[in-house]
Amino acid sequence: MNDAIARQGLVLMGCGKMGGAMLSGWLKGGLPPASVWVTDPNPADWLVDAGVHINADFPEDPAVALIAVKPQMMGDALPSVAALGGGRTLVISVAAGTPIARFEEVFGPDTPVIRAMPNTPAAIGRGITAIIGNAHASEKHLSLAETLLSAIGQVVRLQDEAQMDAVTAVSGSGPAYVFHLIETLAAAGVAEGLAPDLAMALAKATVGGAGALAETAAEDPGQLRVNVTSPNGTTQAALEVLMEEQSGFPPLLKRAVKAAADRSKELSRGG
Ligand SMILES: NC(=O)c1ccc[n+]([C@@H]2O[C@H](COP(=O)([O-])OP(=O)(O)OC[C@H]3O[C@@H](n4cnc5c(N)ncnc54)[C@H](OP(=O)(O)O)[C@@H]3O)[C@@H](O)[C@H]2O)c1
Repeated sequence: MNDAIARQGLVLMGCGKMGGAMLSGWLKGGLPPASVWVTDPNPADWLVDAGVHINADFPEDPAVALIAVKPQMMGDALPSVAALGGGRTLVISVAAGTPIARFEEVFGPDTPVIRAMPNTPAAIGRGITAIIGNAHASEKHLSLAETLLSAIGQVVRLQDEAQMDAVTAVSGSGPAYVFHLIETLAAAGVAEGLAPDLAMALAKATVGGAGALAETAAEDPGQLRVNVTSPNGTTQAALEVLMEEQSGFPPLLKRAVKAAADRSKELSRGG
């Protein structure tokens, strides 16, 4: 892990699902627990035993302050870390819908801020996080954020904060769409006469296996689909329904992703 963090320390504000997944990745990756200051009103048992500082006074100029509280807790949480603003500490936020401007208001305009959007497979180290920095976030800061966030999966960089709404709608909220696909695929199997447990086992393994294949295969997902579709076969019969221009996946997912992106825009305006 980064020398500056080991030397100056890292403050983690909020150690729930997302903060906890990151912290356990960093500790496994060799970050000394003594370099970490966690603030959380109800620290979990594993955290108490981890050797990190809990709800203690912060070091003077930690290398990083990572904010992982719920967006609605931000108003209560930020004043206690506002003193870390001014340029020596990199502020990273994983909070959905909280714009960089909000952090610049609290920490001051000279503070390097990186906004990140992770997703729930982070819990098993298989997330994907998109990041964007403000004008004071240097290449060194972005690369430090990438190192920290790679504890929970892949990291991609954005060019513009406005892309965050679409990212939120695709990868941030996306796991829920896939969970719903699993539920509905299993229910459709039950409607065709399978026992619920068997239908669910088939649906989970199919989505998990196809996802892994799509990530690792040399072919793109369109080609993988063609590869398993024999003319006039069973897959083609289903795809004719799913790819139907008016009622299939393309218009349905387009509407769903647009609804999420629109809601993300409203939330970042405080709506
Ligand atoms: N989970 C995801 O997949 C996901 C995906 C994308 C983005 N995010 C973002 O990640 C952030 C954290 O989400 P999460 O799912 O990890 O939520 P979570 O499990 O509720 O974790 C938030 C933690 O912050 C603590 N907290 C509340 N007020 C605090 C304060 N003033 N100071 C310090 N800690 C405080 C909470 O304690 P109490 O529970 O005791 O209140 C809780 O342990 C959110 O902003 C969310 O938008 C999460």
